Amino acid sequence: MMKEKRNVEQFSRTDFLGIMTGRLKAMATGPNAPVPDLLSYVPNRLANELHPGVQYLKVKEIIAHSPDMKSFILAPDAARGTRSLAWFSAGQYIVILLNVDGKIISRPYSIASSPRDTLDGTLRITVKRVEGGIASGHMLDTWAVGTEIVASAPLGDFTYEPLRDARTVIGIAGGSGITPFRAFAKAITEGDEDFSLVLLYGSRTKADAVFSDEFAAMAEADPRIKLVNVLSEEKIKGCEHGFITAKLIKKYAPKDADYSIFLCGPQAMYDFADKEIATLGIRRKFVRHELFGEYFHPERNADYTGDIQATYKLTVRIAGTEQTVDCPADTSLLRAMEQAGIEAPSDCRSGRCGWCHSQLLSGEVYVPESVDGRRLADKIYGYIHPCCTFPLSDVTIDVPPMPHSR
Ligand code: FES
Repeated sequence: MMKEKRNVEQFSRTDFLGIMTGRLKAMATGPNAPVPDLLSYVPNRLANELHPGVQYLKVKEIIAHSPDMKSFILAPDAARGTRSLAWFSAGQYIVILLNVDGKIISRPYSIASSPRDTLDGTLRITVKRVEGGIASGHMLDTWAVGTEIVASAPLGDFTYEPLRDARTVIGIAGGSGITPFRAFAKAITEGDEDFSLVLLYGSRTKADAVFSDEFAAMAEADPRIKLVNVLSEEKIKGCEHGFITAKLIKKYAPKDADYSIFLCGPQAMYDFADKEIATLGIRRKFVRHELFGEYFHPERNADYTGDIQATYKLTVRIAGTEQTVDCPADTSLLRAMEQAGIEAPSDCRSGRCGWCHSQLLSGEVYVPESVDGRRLADKIYGYIHPCCTFPLSDVTIDVPPMPHSR
Protein backbone atom coordinates (compact mmCIF):
# COMPACT_ATOMS: atom_id res chain seq x y z
CA MET A 1 0.00 0.00 0.00
CA MET A 2 1.33 3.44 -0.87
CA LYS A 3 2.22 5.55 2.15
CA GLU A 4 0.17 8.71 2.39
CA LYS A 5 2.35 11.81 1.92
CA ARG A 6 2.13 14.37 4.71
CA ASN A 7 3.39 17.89 4.79
CA VAL A 8 5.41 19.32 7.68
CA GLU A 9 2.40 20.79 9.53
CA GLN A 10 0.88 17.30 9.77
CA PHE A 11 3.83 15.88 11.72
CA SER A 12 2.97 15.60 15.37
CA ARG A 13 4.96 15.65 18.58
CA THR A 14 4.57 11.83 18.58
CA ASP A 15 6.40 11.66 15.24
CA PHE A 16 9.29 13.69 16.63
CA LEU A 17 9.39 11.59 19.82
CA GLY A 18 9.44 8.46 17.63
CA ILE A 19 12.62 9.71 15.96
CA MET A 20 14.17 10.43 19.35
CA THR A 21 13.25 6.96 20.69
CA GLY A 22 15.02 5.34 17.73
CA ARG A 23 18.12 7.43 18.33
CA LEU A 24 18.20 6.68 22.06
CA LYS A 25 17.89 2.96 21.30
CA ALA A 26 20.80 3.12 18.86
CA MET A 27 22.91 4.92 21.46
CA ALA A 28 22.04 2.38 24.16
CA THR A 29 23.05 -0.59 21.98
CA GLY A 30 26.18 1.07 20.49
CA PRO A 31 29.76 0.26 21.56
CA ASN A 32 30.78 1.47 25.00
CA ALA A 33 34.34 2.47 24.10
CA PRO A 34 35.35 5.97 25.17
CA VAL A 35 35.21 8.61 22.44
CA PRO A 36 38.77 9.19 21.15
CA ASP A 37 40.32 12.66 21.19
CA LEU A 38 38.73 14.01 18.03
CA LEU A 39 41.68 16.32 17.40
CA SER A 40 43.91 13.27 17.06
CA TYR A 41 42.46 12.90 13.54
CA VAL A 42 44.31 15.05 10.97
CA PRO A 43 41.13 16.12 9.05
CA ASN A 44 39.59 17.28 12.34
CA ARG A 45 42.69 19.28 13.22
CA LEU A 46 42.67 20.91 9.79
CA ALA A 47 38.94 21.65 10.03
CA ASN A 48 39.50 23.14 13.46
CA GLU A 49 42.23 25.45 12.12
CA LEU A 50 40.03 26.59 9.23
CA HIS A 51 36.79 26.88 11.22
CA PRO A 52 37.66 27.38 14.90
CA GLY A 53 34.85 27.96 17.40
CA VAL A 54 36.76 30.90 18.79
CA GLN A 55 39.66 33.13 17.72
CA TYR A 56 41.93 34.83 20.24
CA LEU A 57 43.08 38.10 18.68
CA LYS A 58 44.96 41.24 19.62
CA VAL A 59 44.60 44.82 18.37
CA LYS A 60 47.64 45.38 16.17
CA GLU A 61 46.87 48.85 14.82
CA ILE A 62 44.15 51.50 15.07
CA ILE A 63 43.17 53.83 12.24
CA ALA A 64 40.95 56.73 13.30
CA HIS A 65 38.62 57.90 10.50
CA SER A 66 36.93 60.39 12.84
CA PRO A 67 36.41 60.66 16.62
CA ASP A 68 33.39 58.40 16.17
CA MET A 69 34.72 55.90 13.67
CA LYS A 70 37.85 53.75 13.79
CA SER A 71 39.25 50.73 12.01
CA PHE A 72 40.84 48.09 14.21
CA ILE A 73 43.46 45.87 12.62
CA LEU A 74 43.40 42.56 14.48
CA ALA A 75 46.04 39.84 14.50
CA PRO A 76 46.09 36.31 15.95
CA ASP A 77 47.26 36.01 19.54
CA ALA A 78 49.55 32.97 19.50
CA ALA A 79 50.16 33.27 23.24
CA ARG A 80 46.50 32.39 23.82
CA GLY A 81 46.43 29.60 21.22
CA THR A 82 45.41 31.24 17.91
CA ARG A 83 48.31 30.82 15.50
CA SER A 84 46.54 31.82 12.29
CA LEU A 85 43.31 33.52 11.26
CA ALA A 86 40.31 31.53 10.08
CA TRP A 87 39.62 31.68 6.33
CA PHE A 88 36.45 33.48 5.25
CA SER A 89 34.50 34.72 2.24
CA ALA A 90 34.21 38.44 1.50
CA GLY A 91 31.02 39.74 3.11
CA GLN A 92 31.18 37.59 6.26
CA TYR A 93 31.36 38.89 9.83
CA ILE A 94 32.90 37.95 13.17
CA VAL A 95 31.25 38.21 16.56
CA ILE A 96 33.27 40.08 19.18
CA LEU A 97 32.76 39.12 22.82
CA LEU A 98 32.99 42.10 25.17
CA ASN A 99 33.07 42.56 28.91
CA VAL A 100 31.49 45.95 29.53
CA ASP A 101 31.41 46.87 33.21
CA GLY A 102 31.18 43.21 34.16
CA LYS A 103 28.43 42.43 31.64
CA ILE A 104 29.30 39.96 28.90
CA ILE A 105 27.85 41.02 25.54
CA SER A 106 28.59 40.09 21.95
CA ARG A 107 28.33 42.08 18.74
CA PRO A 108 28.74 41.10 15.08
CA TYR A 109 31.05 43.18 12.86
CA SER A 110 31.52 42.75 9.11
CA ILE A 111 35.09 42.01 8.12
CA ALA A 112 36.36 45.01 6.14
CA SER A 113 39.56 43.35 4.91
CA SER A 114 39.76 40.82 2.10
CA PRO A 115 40.29 37.07 2.52
CA ARG A 116 43.77 37.53 1.00
CA ASP A 117 44.67 39.94 3.82
CA THR A 118 44.42 37.07 6.30
CA LEU A 119 47.50 35.58 4.63
CA ASP A 120 49.40 38.58 6.03
CA GLY A 121 47.92 37.73 9.41
CA THR A 122 45.47 40.62 9.76
CA LEU A 123 41.74 41.13 9.91
CA ARG A 124 40.06 44.53 9.88
CA ILE A 125 36.82 45.68 11.45
CA THR A 126 35.50 49.24 11.37
CA VAL A 127 33.40 50.51 14.25
CA LYS A 128 31.11 53.55 14.18
CA ARG A 129 29.72 54.98 17.39
CA VAL A 130 26.04 54.21 17.79
CA GLU A 131 24.13 56.70 19.88
CA GLY A 132 23.49 54.98 23.21
CA GLY A 133 25.30 51.85 21.99
CA ILE A 134 27.31 50.28 24.80
CA ALA A 135 29.47 48.07 22.58
CA SER A 136 30.61 50.65 20.02
CA GLY A 137 31.37 53.22 22.74
CA HIS A 138 33.35 50.65 24.72
CA MET A 139 35.45 49.64 21.72
CA LEU A 140 36.09 53.19 20.48
CA ASP A 141 36.96 54.55 23.91
CA THR A 142 38.90 51.70 25.53
CA TRP A 143 40.54 49.58 22.83
CA ALA A 144 44.26 50.27 22.35
CA VAL A 145 47.11 48.53 20.56
CA GLY A 146 47.63 45.24 22.41
CA THR A 147 44.04 44.90 23.69
CA GLU A 148 43.14 41.20 23.82
CA ILE A 149 39.99 40.21 21.92
CA VAL A 150 37.84 37.08 21.88
CA ALA A 151 36.05 36.60 18.54
CA SER A 152 34.06 33.92 16.77
CA ALA A 153 35.03 32.24 13.54
CA PRO A 154 33.77 34.08 10.42
CA LEU A 155 30.03 33.69 9.98
CA GLY A 156 27.16 34.79 7.76
CA ASP A 157 25.82 34.34 4.27
CA PHE A 158 26.12 37.90 2.93
CA THR A 159 28.48 36.56 0.31
CA TYR A 160 28.55 36.47 -3.48
CA GLU A 161 27.31 33.18 -4.90
CA PRO A 162 27.58 32.96 -8.72
CA LEU A 163 24.88 30.26 -8.91
CA ARG A 164 22.38 32.54 -7.19
CA ASP A 165 23.52 36.12 -7.74
CA ALA A 166 23.61 38.11 -10.98
CA ARG A 167 26.90 39.08 -12.63
CA THR A 168 26.39 42.71 -11.59
CA VAL A 169 25.78 43.63 -7.95
CA ILE A 170 24.36 47.02 -7.06
CA GLY A 171 25.66 47.61 -3.54
CA ILE A 172 23.70 49.96 -1.32
CA ALA A 173 25.66 51.06 1.74
CA GLY A 174 25.19 53.57 4.52
CA GLY A 175 27.54 54.48 7.40
CA SER A 176 29.71 51.58 8.52
CA GLY A 177 27.68 49.39 6.15
CA ILE A 178 30.45 50.14 3.68
CA THR A 179 32.70 47.54 5.35
CA PRO A 180 31.62 44.30 3.62
CA PHE A 181 31.72 46.15 0.27
CA ARG A 182 35.35 47.10 0.94
CA ALA A 183 36.03 43.37 1.37
CA PHE A 184 34.12 42.56 -1.86
CA ALA A 185 35.95 45.25 -3.86
CA LYS A 186 39.37 44.18 -2.58
CA ALA A 187 38.56 40.53 -3.29
CA ILE A 188 37.59 41.49 -6.88
CA THR A 189 40.82 43.38 -7.46
CA GLU A 190 42.81 40.51 -5.94
CA GLY A 191 41.18 37.95 -8.22
CA ASP A 192 39.25 36.05 -5.55
CA GLU A 193 35.77 37.25 -6.63
CA ASP A 194 34.54 37.78 -10.15
CA PHE A 195 31.55 40.10 -10.51
CA SER A 196 30.89 43.76 -11.24
CA LEU A 197 30.17 45.93 -8.21
CA VAL A 198 28.43 49.29 -8.49
CA LEU A 199 28.38 50.78 -5.01
CA LEU A 200 25.81 53.44 -4.18
CA TYR A 201 27.23 54.81 -0.95
CA GLY A 202 24.87 57.04 1.03
CA SER A 203 26.37 59.63 3.40
CA ARG A 204 25.37 63.03 4.70
CA THR A 205 28.52 64.73 3.40
CA LYS A 206 31.58 63.68 1.42
CA ALA A 207 33.67 63.92 4.61
CA ASP A 208 31.44 61.23 6.16
CA ALA A 209 32.12 58.80 3.31
CA VAL A 210 35.03 56.76 4.72
CA PHE A 211 36.95 54.54 2.32
CA SER A 212 35.75 56.74 -0.56
CA ASP A 213 39.27 57.52 -1.81
CA GLU A 214 40.30 53.91 -1.48
CA PHE A 215 37.24 52.82 -3.47
CA ALA A 216 37.98 55.42 -6.12
CA ALA A 217 41.53 54.01 -6.46
CA MET A 218 40.20 50.45 -6.77
CA ALA A 219 37.67 51.62 -9.38
CA GLU A 220 40.47 53.29 -11.31
CA ALA A 221 42.45 50.05 -11.32
CA ASP A 222 39.59 47.64 -12.08
CA PRO A 223 36.68 48.41 -14.47
CA ARG A 224 34.44 45.95 -12.60
CA ILE A 225 34.25 48.38 -9.64
CA LYS A 226 32.33 51.65 -9.62
CA LEU A 227 31.65 53.98 -6.69
CA VAL A 228 28.80 56.48 -6.62
CA ASN A 229 28.72 58.77 -3.59
CA VAL A 230 25.15 59.79 -2.76
CA LEU A 231 25.18 62.80 -0.44
CA SER A 232 22.03 63.86 1.35
CA GLU A 233 23.28 67.21 2.73
CA GLU A 234 25.85 68.37 0.22
CA LYS A 235 25.93 69.12 -3.49
CA ILE A 236 29.33 68.26 -4.99
CA LYS A 237 30.27 67.80 -8.62
CA GLY A 238 30.69 64.12 -9.44
CA CYS A 239 28.43 62.97 -6.56
CA GLU A 240 24.70 62.29 -6.59
CA HIS A 241 22.59 64.43 -4.28
CA GLY A 242 19.65 63.13 -2.22
CA PHE A 243 18.76 59.56 -1.31
CA ILE A 244 19.15 56.15 -2.94
CA THR A 245 15.90 55.93 -4.87
CA ALA A 246 14.61 53.42 -7.43
CA LYS A 247 15.33 56.00 -10.12
CA LEU A 248 18.96 56.24 -9.02
CA ILE A 249 19.35 52.45 -8.89
CA LYS A 250 17.95 52.20 -12.43
CA LYS A 251 20.37 54.89 -13.61
CA TYR A 252 23.39 52.77 -12.64
CA ALA A 253 21.98 49.25 -13.13
CA PRO A 254 22.60 47.30 -16.34
CA LYS A 255 19.85 48.05 -18.88
CA ASP A 256 19.67 44.65 -20.52
CA ALA A 257 20.74 42.12 -17.88
CA ASP A 258 19.77 40.92 -14.42
CA TYR A 259 21.40 42.52 -11.40
CA SER A 260 21.51 41.71 -7.71
CA ILE A 261 21.11 44.29 -4.96
CA PHE A 262 23.13 43.88 -1.75
CA LEU A 263 22.25 46.20 1.15
CA CYS A 264 24.19 46.92 4.32
CA GLY A 265 23.57 49.90 6.57
CA PRO A 266 21.41 51.30 9.35
CA GLN A 267 17.76 50.40 9.84
CA ALA A 268 16.56 53.77 8.50
CA MET A 269 18.35 53.03 5.22
CA TYR A 270 16.55 49.68 4.87
CA ASP A 271 13.20 51.27 5.69
CA PHE A 272 13.67 53.71 2.81
CA ALA A 273 15.55 51.58 0.29
CA ASP A 274 13.31 48.50 0.62
CA LYS A 275 10.26 50.53 -0.45
CA GLU A 276 12.15 51.88 -3.45
CA ILE A 277 13.47 48.44 -4.44
CA ALA A 278 9.96 46.97 -4.23
CA THR A 279 8.94 49.24 -7.14
CA LEU A 280 11.68 47.81 -9.37
CA GLY A 281 9.99 44.42 -9.63
CA ILE A 282 13.21 42.45 -9.48
CA ARG A 283 13.20 38.83 -8.31
CA ARG A 284 13.39 38.27 -4.56
CA LYS A 285 16.50 36.09 -4.75
CA PHE A 286 18.38 39.03 -6.25
CA VAL A 287 17.88 41.22 -3.15
CA ARG A 288 20.21 40.41 -0.25
CA HIS A 289 20.35 42.16 3.12
CA GLU A 290 23.04 42.16 5.75
CA LEU A 291 21.11 42.70 8.92
CA PHE A 292 22.53 43.14 12.37
CA GLY A 293 19.18 43.61 13.98
CA GLU A 294 19.91 45.35 17.22
CA TYR A 295 18.05 48.40 16.22
CA PHE A 296 14.74 47.09 14.89
CA HIS A 297 11.83 49.32 15.67
CA PRO A 298 8.86 46.95 15.90
CA GLU A 299 6.35 49.80 15.93
CA ARG A 300 7.38 50.75 12.40
CA ASN A 301 5.88 47.51 11.09
CA ALA A 302 2.25 47.64 9.94
CA ASP A 303 1.40 44.35 11.70
CA TYR A 304 2.64 45.50 15.13
CA THR A 305 -0.29 45.91 17.50
CA GLY A 306 1.50 46.18 20.85
CA ASP A 307 1.81 49.10 23.25
CA ILE A 308 5.30 50.38 22.45
CA GLN A 309 5.40 52.48 25.67
CA ALA A 310 4.86 49.45 27.93
CA THR A 311 7.51 47.67 30.01
CA TYR A 312 7.05 43.97 30.81
CA LYS A 313 8.64 41.42 33.11
CA LEU A 314 10.97 38.97 31.39
CA THR A 315 11.70 35.82 33.40
CA VAL A 316 14.76 33.96 32.16
CA ARG A 317 15.60 30.35 33.03
CA ILE A 318 19.23 29.73 32.20
CA ALA A 319 21.91 27.36 33.52
CA GLY A 320 19.74 26.21 36.46
CA THR A 321 18.89 29.75 37.57
CA GLU A 322 15.81 31.94 37.17
CA GLN A 323 15.93 35.73 36.99
CA THR A 324 13.27 38.31 36.29
CA VAL A 325 14.24 41.56 34.58
CA ASP A 326 12.46 44.51 32.95
CA CYS A 327 11.99 44.41 29.19
CA PRO A 328 10.52 47.50 27.45
CA ALA A 329 8.27 46.72 24.47
CA ASP A 330 10.76 48.22 22.01
CA THR A 331 13.68 46.15 23.33
CA SER A 332 14.52 42.67 22.12
CA LEU A 333 14.54 39.93 24.75
CA LEU A 334 18.26 39.41 24.06
CA ARG A 335 19.08 43.06 24.64
CA ALA A 336 17.09 43.11 27.88
CA MET A 337 19.03 40.07 29.11
CA GLU A 338 22.35 41.68 28.22
CA GLN A 339 21.41 44.93 29.91
CA ALA A 340 20.61 42.95 33.06
CA GLY A 341 23.97 41.14 32.92
CA ILE A 342 22.59 37.75 31.86
CA GLU A 343 25.08 35.92 29.63
CA ALA A 344 22.89 34.72 26.77
CA PRO A 345 24.31 33.28 23.54
CA SER A 346 24.05 35.26 20.30
CA ASP A 347 25.81 35.62 16.97
CA CYS A 348 24.03 37.28 14.05
CA ARG A 349 21.46 39.26 16.13
CA SER A 350 19.14 39.14 13.14
CA GLY A 351 17.19 35.90 13.46
CA ARG A 352 19.26 33.97 10.97
CA CYS A 353 21.91 31.83 12.69
CA GLY A 354 19.73 30.21 15.39
CA TRP A 355 22.51 30.54 17.97
CA CYS A 356 20.17 32.22 20.48
CA HIS A 357 17.38 29.63 19.92
CA SER A 358 15.30 29.53 23.15
CA GLN A 359 11.96 28.20 24.31
CA LEU A 360 9.02 30.48 25.02
CA LEU A 361 7.41 29.04 28.16
CA SER A 362 4.70 31.67 28.63
CA GLY A 363 3.59 35.07 27.40
CA GLU A 364 2.96 36.80 24.08
CA VAL A 365 5.71 38.04 21.80
CA TYR A 366 6.12 39.87 18.51
CA VAL A 367 8.61 38.73 15.86
CA PRO A 368 9.02 41.04 12.82
CA GLU A 369 8.33 38.95 9.72
CA SER A 370 11.42 40.28 7.93
CA VAL A 371 13.72 38.72 10.53
CA ASP A 372 11.73 35.63 11.48
CA GLY A 373 14.24 32.96 10.47
CA ARG A 374 12.63 30.19 12.53
CA ARG A 375 11.80 26.79 11.09
CA LEU A 376 8.13 25.84 11.00
CA ALA A 377 8.69 23.23 13.74
CA ASP A 378 10.14 25.95 15.99
CA LYS A 379 7.07 28.10 15.51
CA ILE A 380 4.72 25.17 16.19
CA TYR A 381 6.55 24.09 19.36
CA GLY A 382 7.12 27.56 20.78
CA TYR A 383 10.77 28.30 20.08
CA ILE A 384 12.01 31.82 19.48
CA HIS A 385 15.14 33.78 18.64
CA PRO A 386 15.40 36.34 21.49
CA CYS A 387 17.62 38.57 19.32
CA CYS A 388 14.61 39.63 17.27
CA THR A 389 11.69 38.89 19.58
CA PHE A 390 9.84 41.65 21.44
CA PRO A 391 7.48 41.26 24.43
CA LEU A 392 3.75 41.90 24.14
CA SER A 393 3.13 40.79 27.75
CA ASP A 394 5.13 39.41 30.69
CA VAL A 395 7.19 36.59 29.25
CA THR A 396 9.08 33.52 30.53
CA ILE A 397 11.78 31.91 28.41
CA ASP A 398 14.21 29.03 28.73
CA VAL A 399 17.64 29.97 27.33
CA PRO A 400 20.60 27.64 26.65
CA PRO A 401 23.75 28.71 28.51
CA MET A 402 26.61 30.46 26.70
CA PRO A 403 28.81 27.67 25.22
CA HIS A 404 32.14 27.14 27.00
CA SER A 405 33.99 27.71 23.70
CA ARG A 406 33.21 31.42 24.00
S1 FES B 1 21.70 35.53 17.31
FE1 FES B 1 21.41 34.59 15.38
S2 FES B 1 19.31 34.01 15.45
FE2 FES B 1 19.61 35.13 17.29
